[in-house]
Amino acid sequence: MSVALDGVGFVHANGHRALTGISLSAGAGERLAVIGPSGAGKTTLMRVLGAALHPVEGRVAVLDVDPWKLSPSALRKLRARIATVHQAPPIAPRLRVVTAVLSGRLGEWTLPRAIASLLHPSDIAGAHEALTRVSLQDRLFDRCDRLSGGQLQRVGVARAMYQRPALLLADEPVSALDPTLADATLRELVAQSEATGATFIASLHAVDLALHWFPRIVGMREGRVVFDRPRDEVTQEMLTALYANEHTAQGAADSAVPMHLAVCRA
Ligand SMILES: Nc1ncnc2c1ncn2[C@@H]1O[C@H](COP(=O)(O)OP(=O)(O)O)[C@@H](O)[C@H]1O
Ligand SMILES: [Mg+2]
Repeated sequence: MSVALDGVGFVHANGHRALTGISLSAGAGERLAVIGPSGAGKTTLMRVLGAALHPVEGRVAVLDVDPWKLSPSALRKLRARIATVHQAPPIAPRLRVVTAVLSGRLGEWTLPRAIASLLHPSDIAGAHEALTRVSLQDRLFDRCDRLSGGQLQRVGVARAMYQRPALLLADEPVSALDPTLADATLRELVAQSEATGATFIASLHAVDLALHWFPRIVGMREGRVVFDRPRDEVTQEMLTALYANEHTAQGAADSAVPMHLAVCRA
């Protein structure tokens, strides 16, 4: 199994419970989309899957190990095999696009090589190739703080693809893109996961994109998995129930989250 959660719960530092009894697994190379209204717990789940949040209960295996039983250096190595496209990342001012993309491999490089790559981008051809896949090849040497939210989001996608992870996690990776670019960007992420055998798990607000690009759909609501089905078995009734009262439910304000800036963090 690429990921396996069993009875996982998570409570945020302020005492807010975001996940309850999540049992979910995905085999190597599998592709699944997590859908559900704002506040359902999608981002929290992605961070648990990415070994970034330690659940308060249940068992977690990511790439066949329990991240929370690893030494700090083994945990770093595990995280280097996981790429995350963040929904709302913080930006390092003045960082160039090329450096942001190359930083995808910082985790697997030795410290001297990593530092050198920040000063003098080494694999410009590799960064160019990744950016070409999201139609940003002409922005290679631009500063990240000169890009639009949608362009930054695509830099984050290029960075994740450049990393060539075993597990690709994407938290609303196309939320700032127009429909054409959103579709093209998902196409590239899917192609990447197929070419490399990476497991690909994405949370998506757009149900049509989830159904189009992912053979398996997990519906979440109020911190729980409410269905986990092959896409052909997802009915309009299930979707209506999943999103019922979305705009009166708590968390609806999340949709106003400012655009995705963290991709350019070093
Ligand atoms: N850092 C945090 N501290 C406290 N509560 C949080 C935090 N992040 C998210 N939450 C709450 O946890 C719940 C799940 O949030 P989240 O995982 O972001 O859902 P989604 O991504 O589906 O919108 C929501 O009620 C949200 O308000
Ligand atoms: Mg979210």
